[in-house]
Amino acid sequence: MGLVLRSRADFCHGSKIKPLEGGVFKFVDVDPLFVQKVAGRPEDRLPFVGKFHIFLMGQRRVALSGRFDFDHSDQEKLEDMTMNEIIRAMEERRSIRKFKPDMPKKADLDQIIEAGLYAASAKGKQSAIIVAVTNRELRDKISVDNCRIGGWDKDFDPFYGAPAILIVLADKTWANRVYDGSLVMGNMMLAAHSLGLGSIWINRAREEFETEEYKKLLSNWGIKGEWEGIGHCAVGYRDGELPQPAPRKPGRVFYVE
Ligand SMILES: Cc1cc2nc3c(=O)[nH]c(=O)nc-3n(C[C@H](O)[C@H](O)[C@H](O)COP(=O)(O)O)c2cc1C
Repeated sequence: MGLVLRSRADFCHGSKIKPLEGGVFKFVDVDPLFVQKVAGRPEDRLPFVGKFHIFLMGQRRVALSGRFDFDHSDQEKLEDMTMNEIIRAMEERRSIRKFKPDMPKKADLDQIIEAGLYAASAKGKQSAIIVAVTNRELRDKISVDNCRIGGWDKDFDPFYGAPAILIVLADKTWANRVYDGSLVMGNMMLAAHSLGLGSIWINRAREEFETEEYKKLLSNWGIKGEWEGIGHCAVGYRDGELPQPAPRKPGRVFYVE
Protein backbone atom coordinates (compact mmCIF):
# COMPACT_ATOMS: atom_id res chain seq x y z
CA MET A 1 0.00 0.00 0.00
CA GLY A 2 1.41 3.33 -0.89
CA LEU A 3 0.18 6.77 -1.51
CA VAL A 4 0.51 7.49 -5.23
CA LEU A 5 -0.18 11.20 -5.20
CA ARG A 6 2.68 12.75 -7.10
CA SER A 7 1.78 16.10 -5.72
CA ARG A 8 -1.32 17.29 -4.01
CA ALA A 9 -2.06 19.68 -6.81
CA ASP A 10 -2.11 16.67 -9.13
CA PHE A 11 -4.88 15.03 -7.26
CA CYS A 12 -7.69 17.28 -8.28
CA HIS A 13 -6.96 19.91 -10.84
CA GLY A 14 -8.36 23.26 -9.91
CA SER A 15 -9.32 22.40 -6.38
CA LYS A 16 -7.72 23.42 -3.16
CA ILE A 17 -6.61 20.60 -0.99
CA LYS A 18 -5.95 21.04 2.69
CA PRO A 19 -3.91 18.30 4.28
CA LEU A 20 -5.09 17.35 7.73
CA GLU A 21 -3.53 15.00 10.24
CA GLY A 22 -2.70 11.37 9.51
CA GLY A 23 -3.38 10.99 5.79
CA VAL A 24 -6.73 12.72 5.99
CA PHE A 25 -7.29 15.36 3.36
CA LYS A 26 -9.92 17.97 2.95
CA PHE A 27 -10.95 19.10 -0.50
CA VAL A 28 -12.48 22.48 -1.07
CA ASP A 29 -14.11 23.72 -4.30
CA VAL A 30 -14.18 20.27 -5.82
CA ASP A 31 -16.22 19.98 -8.97
CA PRO A 32 -19.45 17.95 -8.64
CA LEU A 33 -18.32 15.65 -11.42
CA PHE A 34 -15.32 14.72 -9.36
CA VAL A 35 -17.50 14.03 -6.38
CA GLN A 36 -19.80 11.94 -8.53
CA LYS A 37 -16.81 9.99 -9.66
CA VAL A 38 -15.48 9.53 -6.16
CA ALA A 39 -18.64 9.12 -4.17
CA GLY A 40 -21.40 8.36 -6.61
CA ARG A 41 -20.26 5.41 -8.67
CA PRO A 42 -19.13 2.42 -6.65
CA GLU A 43 -17.23 0.91 -9.57
CA ASP A 44 -15.00 3.97 -9.69
CA ARG A 45 -14.44 4.17 -6.01
CA LEU A 46 -10.93 3.98 -4.77
CA PRO A 47 -10.38 1.99 -1.60
CA PHE A 48 -11.32 4.76 0.75
CA VAL A 49 -10.78 4.20 4.39
CA GLY A 50 -13.08 6.01 6.74
CA LYS A 51 -16.03 8.19 6.05
CA PHE A 52 -16.56 10.78 3.39
CA HIS A 53 -18.63 13.83 4.01
CA ILE A 54 -20.00 15.88 1.17
CA PHE A 55 -21.16 19.41 1.80
CA LEU A 56 -23.04 21.32 -0.84
CA MET A 57 -21.95 24.91 -0.71
CA GLY A 58 -24.21 26.88 -3.03
CA GLN A 59 -24.89 25.64 -6.53
CA ARG A 60 -21.70 24.12 -7.75
CA ARG A 61 -19.22 24.06 -4.94
CA VAL A 62 -18.68 20.91 -3.06
CA ALA A 63 -16.28 20.12 -0.30
CA LEU A 64 -15.51 16.67 0.86
CA SER A 65 -13.24 15.29 3.47
CA GLY A 66 -12.16 11.83 4.38
CA ARG A 67 -9.37 9.40 4.74
CA PHE A 68 -8.13 7.29 1.88
CA ASP A 69 -5.50 4.86 1.03
CA PHE A 70 -4.20 4.01 -2.42
CA ASP A 71 -2.61 1.00 -3.84
CA HIS A 72 -0.31 1.30 -6.87
CA SER A 73 -2.81 -0.56 -9.05
CA ASP A 74 -5.08 2.44 -8.64
CA GLN A 75 -2.64 4.66 -10.51
CA GLU A 76 -4.66 4.46 -13.71
CA LYS A 77 -7.91 5.24 -11.95
CA LEU A 78 -6.24 8.07 -10.16
CA GLU A 79 -4.99 9.51 -13.42
CA ASP A 80 -8.49 9.28 -14.84
CA MET A 81 -9.88 11.02 -11.79
CA THR A 82 -7.36 13.80 -11.97
CA MET A 83 -8.17 14.58 -15.62
CA ASN A 84 -9.17 18.15 -16.16
CA GLU A 85 -12.87 18.31 -15.35
CA ILE A 86 -13.86 20.30 -18.42
CA ILE A 87 -12.08 17.92 -20.77
CA ARG A 88 -13.60 15.01 -18.93
CA ALA A 89 -17.08 16.47 -19.38
CA MET A 90 -16.36 17.01 -23.08
CA GLU A 91 -15.43 13.37 -23.48
CA GLU A 92 -18.22 12.02 -21.30
CA ARG A 93 -21.14 14.03 -22.65
CA ARG A 94 -23.43 12.05 -24.92
CA SER A 95 -26.65 12.73 -26.76
CA ILE A 96 -29.52 11.45 -24.66
CA ARG A 97 -32.53 9.88 -26.33
CA LYS A 98 -34.66 8.91 -23.36
CA PHE A 99 -35.72 11.42 -20.72
CA LYS A 100 -37.78 11.35 -17.54
CA PRO A 101 -40.76 13.70 -17.61
CA ASP A 102 -39.59 15.71 -14.56
CA MET A 103 -38.68 19.32 -15.24
CA PRO A 104 -35.08 20.21 -14.33
CA LYS A 105 -34.63 22.79 -11.61
CA LYS A 106 -34.94 26.37 -12.79
CA ALA A 107 -31.53 27.15 -11.25
CA ASP A 108 -29.94 24.41 -13.39
CA LEU A 109 -31.64 25.63 -16.55
CA ASP A 110 -30.46 29.16 -15.72
CA GLN A 111 -26.88 27.93 -15.40
CA ILE A 112 -27.07 26.05 -18.68
CA ILE A 113 -28.41 29.13 -20.42
CA GLU A 114 -25.74 31.30 -18.84
CA ALA A 115 -23.05 28.92 -20.10
CA GLY A 116 -24.58 29.34 -23.55
CA LEU A 117 -24.46 33.11 -23.29
CA TYR A 118 -20.73 32.94 -22.51
CA ALA A 119 -19.87 31.13 -25.74
CA ALA A 120 -17.38 32.82 -28.04
CA SER A 121 -18.98 34.68 -30.93
CA ALA A 122 -17.58 36.14 -34.13
CA LYS A 123 -16.48 39.72 -33.58
CA GLY A 124 -17.90 39.38 -30.09
CA LYS A 125 -21.32 40.21 -31.49
CA GLN A 126 -23.19 37.70 -29.28
CA SER A 127 -25.54 37.23 -32.20
CA ALA A 128 -27.45 34.26 -30.80
CA ILE A 129 -30.45 34.31 -28.51
CA ILE A 130 -32.06 31.52 -26.48
CA VAL A 131 -35.76 30.87 -26.08
CA ALA A 132 -36.30 28.56 -23.10
CA VAL A 133 -39.51 26.61 -23.54
CA THR A 134 -40.75 24.90 -20.37
CA ASN A 135 -44.45 25.26 -21.12
CA ARG A 136 -45.72 21.74 -21.79
CA GLU A 137 -48.30 22.74 -24.36
CA LEU A 138 -45.86 24.79 -26.39
CA ARG A 139 -43.15 22.13 -26.09
CA ASP A 140 -45.59 19.52 -27.40
CA LYS A 141 -46.68 21.76 -30.25
CA ILE A 142 -43.06 22.31 -31.34
CA SER A 143 -42.49 18.56 -31.11
CA VAL A 144 -45.45 17.89 -33.43
CA ASP A 145 -44.21 20.50 -35.93
CA ASN A 146 -40.64 19.21 -35.73
CA CYS A 147 -41.89 15.67 -36.31
CA ARG A 148 -43.88 16.78 -39.35
CA ILE A 149 -40.86 18.60 -40.81
CA GLY A 150 -38.74 15.50 -40.18
CA GLY A 151 -41.29 13.30 -41.93
CA TRP A 152 -41.72 10.79 -39.08
CA ASP A 153 -44.86 9.00 -37.95
CA LYS A 154 -47.16 11.28 -35.97
CA ASP A 155 -46.59 9.61 -32.62
CA PHE A 156 -42.79 10.15 -32.67
CA ASP A 157 -41.50 12.77 -30.24
CA PRO A 158 -38.30 14.17 -31.77
CA PHE A 159 -37.41 15.56 -28.32
CA TYR A 160 -37.45 12.05 -26.80
CA GLY A 161 -39.58 13.16 -23.86
CA ALA A 162 -37.26 15.97 -22.73
CA PRO A 163 -39.38 18.52 -20.86
CA ALA A 164 -37.24 21.63 -21.47
CA ILE A 165 -36.36 22.87 -24.94
CA LEU A 166 -33.77 25.63 -25.24
CA ILE A 167 -34.08 27.01 -28.73
CA VAL A 168 -31.09 28.86 -30.12
CA LEU A 169 -31.70 31.40 -32.85
CA ALA A 170 -29.23 33.82 -34.36
CA ASP A 171 -29.38 37.11 -36.18
CA LYS A 172 -30.31 36.27 -39.76
CA THR A 173 -28.40 39.26 -41.10
CA TRP A 174 -25.08 38.10 -39.61
CA ALA A 175 -22.81 35.93 -41.74
CA ASN A 176 -21.45 34.02 -38.72
CA ARG A 177 -24.86 33.21 -37.25
CA VAL A 178 -24.57 29.43 -37.60
CA TYR A 179 -21.09 29.32 -36.05
CA ASP A 180 -22.17 31.57 -33.19
CA GLY A 181 -25.36 29.65 -32.52
CA SER A 182 -23.61 26.28 -32.71
CA LEU A 183 -21.14 27.28 -30.03
CA VAL A 184 -24.01 28.35 -27.78
CA MET A 185 -25.53 24.92 -28.36
CA GLY A 186 -22.23 23.20 -27.56
CA ASN A 187 -21.74 25.14 -24.34
CA MET A 188 -25.27 24.36 -23.20
CA MET A 189 -25.01 20.62 -23.87
CA LEU A 190 -21.75 20.52 -21.96
CA ALA A 191 -23.13 22.56 -19.07
CA ALA A 192 -26.17 20.27 -18.88
CA HIS A 193 -23.91 17.25 -18.63
CA SER A 194 -21.75 18.87 -15.96
CA LEU A 195 -24.89 19.46 -13.88
CA GLY A 196 -25.94 15.82 -14.18
CA LEU A 197 -28.61 16.51 -16.80
CA GLY A 198 -29.02 14.93 -20.21
CA SER A 199 -29.30 16.89 -23.42
CA ILE A 200 -29.37 16.51 -27.16
CA TRP A 201 -29.21 18.80 -30.18
CA ILE A 202 -32.41 18.50 -32.17
CA ASN A 203 -32.42 19.97 -35.64
CA ARG A 204 -35.06 21.61 -37.84
CA ALA A 205 -35.20 24.88 -35.88
CA ARG A 206 -34.38 26.68 -39.13
CA GLU A 207 -37.39 25.21 -40.92
CA GLU A 208 -39.67 25.99 -37.99
CA PHE A 209 -38.68 29.63 -37.75
CA GLU A 210 -38.93 30.14 -41.50
CA THR A 211 -42.71 29.74 -41.19
CA GLU A 212 -45.01 32.72 -40.68
CA GLU A 213 -46.55 30.98 -37.68
CA TYR A 214 -43.23 30.75 -35.84
CA LYS A 215 -42.23 34.29 -36.84
CA LYS A 216 -45.51 35.38 -35.28
CA LEU A 217 -44.66 33.40 -32.15
CA LEU A 218 -41.34 35.26 -31.88
CA SER A 219 -43.11 38.55 -32.16
CA ASN A 220 -45.69 37.44 -29.56
CA TRP A 221 -42.78 36.67 -27.23
CA GLY A 222 -41.50 40.22 -27.75
CA ILE A 223 -38.58 39.20 -29.97
CA LYS A 224 -38.09 41.70 -32.77
CA GLY A 225 -35.97 41.33 -35.88
CA GLU A 226 -35.08 38.51 -38.27
CA TRP A 227 -33.89 35.27 -36.70
CA GLU A 228 -32.66 31.97 -38.01
CA GLY A 229 -33.33 28.85 -35.96
CA ILE A 230 -30.01 27.11 -35.21
CA GLY A 231 -31.01 24.20 -32.98
CA HIS A 232 -33.07 22.96 -30.07
CA CYS A 233 -31.13 21.89 -27.01
CA ALA A 234 -33.51 19.41 -25.41
CA VAL A 235 -32.76 19.06 -21.70
CA GLY A 236 -34.00 16.81 -18.92
CA TYR A 237 -33.08 14.01 -16.56
CA ARG A 238 -31.66 11.05 -18.41
CA ASP A 239 -33.72 7.87 -18.19
CA GLY A 240 -31.12 5.11 -18.40
CA GLU A 241 -27.38 4.79 -18.59
CA LEU A 242 -25.06 7.33 -20.18
CA PRO A 243 -24.41 5.93 -23.69
CA GLN A 244 -20.90 4.91 -24.65
CA PRO A 245 -19.22 7.08 -27.27
CA ALA A 246 -18.71 5.72 -30.77
CA PRO A 247 -15.02 5.01 -31.33
CA ARG A 248 -13.28 8.09 -32.71
CA LYS A 249 -12.58 7.78 -36.42
CA PRO A 250 -8.89 7.51 -37.14
CA GLY A 251 -7.09 9.82 -39.54
CA ARG A 252 -8.82 13.02 -38.49
CA VAL A 253 -5.78 14.78 -37.04
CA PHE A 254 -2.85 16.15 -38.98
CA TYR A 255 0.08 17.61 -37.12
CA VAL A 256 2.20 19.99 -39.10
CA GLU A 257 5.29 20.76 -37.03
C1 LIG B 1 -25.94 19.73 -35.85
C2 LIG B 1 -26.51 18.55 -35.13
C3 LIG B 1 -27.82 18.18 -35.33
C4 LIG B 1 -28.37 17.09 -34.67
N1 LIG B 1 -29.68 16.79 -34.83
C5 LIG B 1 -30.21 15.71 -34.20
C6 LIG B 1 -31.59 15.40 -34.34
O1 LIG B 1 -32.36 16.11 -34.98
N2 LIG B 1 -32.04 14.29 -33.72
C7 LIG B 1 -31.24 13.47 -32.99
O2 LIG B 1 -31.71 12.46 -32.48
N3 LIG B 1 -29.92 13.78 -32.80
C8 LIG B 1 -29.41 14.88 -33.38
N4 LIG B 1 -28.09 15.21 -33.17
C9 LIG B 1 -27.26 14.40 -32.27
C10 LIG B 1 -26.25 13.54 -33.04
O3 LIG B 1 -26.93 12.48 -33.64
C11 LIG B 1 -25.19 13.07 -32.05
O4 LIG B 1 -24.47 14.19 -31.61
C12 LIG B 1 -24.24 12.07 -32.69
O5 LIG B 1 -24.91 10.86 -32.96
C13 LIG B 1 -23.03 11.78 -31.82
O6 LIG B 1 -23.44 11.34 -30.53
P1 LIG B 1 -22.97 12.05 -29.20
O7 LIG B 1 -23.56 13.43 -29.18
O8 LIG B 1 -23.49 11.18 -28.11
O9 LIG B 1 -21.49 12.12 -29.23
C14 LIG B 1 -27.55 16.32 -33.80
C15 LIG B 1 -26.24 16.72 -33.57
C16 LIG B 1 -25.72 17.83 -34.20
C17 LIG B 1 -24.33 18.27 -33.89
